[in-house]
Amino acid sequence: MELKQAIESRTSIRIYKNEPVPLEDLKEMIRLASLAPSIADSQPWSFIIITNKKLLEDMALKVARKLANIPENESLASKNIKSQVEWFATFFQDAPAVIALAMETYESVLEKGVVLNHDEVNRMRNYPDFQTAGACIQNMLLAAVDMNYGACWLSAPMMAKETLGQMLEMDEKHNLIAFVAVGKPASTPVKKPAPDINERIRVIQ
Ligand SMILES: Cc1cc2nc3c(=O)[nH]c(=O)nc-3n(C[C@H](O)[C@H](O)[C@H](O)COP(=O)(O)O)c2cc1C
Repeated sequence: MELKQAIESRTSIRIYKNEPVPLEDLKEMIRLASLAPSIADSQPWSFIIITNKKLLEDMALKVARKLANIPENESLASKNIKSQVEWFATFFQDAPAVIALAMETYESVLEKGVVLNHDEVNRMRNYPDFQTAGACIQNMLLAAVDMNYGACWLSAPMMAKETLGQMLEMDEKHNLIAFVAVGKPASTPVKKPAPDINERIRVIQ
């Protein structure tokens, strides 16, 4: 598939056929994801492939419980909002595979030579750690499209990331960043029309 075609056809897929995704395909998506640019070439990522249905269900349950414990505000819609968010945060339990992205703290060149600590430098540079994660995940999504899979980026489950990190037996050096759910789309993906981007472009010559 041409890169442009992959970019143009990518859309979030949340409902999948009940078919396993071969491990070598998941590893190929990860290999392509790991070719993304990273802050100071730190390549701070590591990946956990989860295909164990029971574990996915247990993780989704923890996310749902965490959400349930967040106090609602006065809005009449708050109950509806919570149940909507619950689905977007837990549908990964029905995916044939989930790839969890974890990252180690990178060491910036600047923090070695100034009085600022790592967190201050990271904030000053506009969170290059999260920017790095974004580049990696986008590569993964495009790789999935190229390989005829559907995928969806999920940050909502991270509301329970401490518990999820324990369930995934992660060490303290790693920070859980996001999930990517992967599978064969249950129906033909339909890409919604994009707004006219020219309205959002300013040229300074
Ligand atoms: C940082 C980030 C976090 C996201 N988290 C979730 C999520 O937790 N659950 C979900 O269903 N979709 C999630 N999405 C997918 C977006 O909802 C989706 O990309 C957006 O609605 C645009 O649709 P498209 O991907 O089909 O173009 C996330 C996307 C991004 C970029």
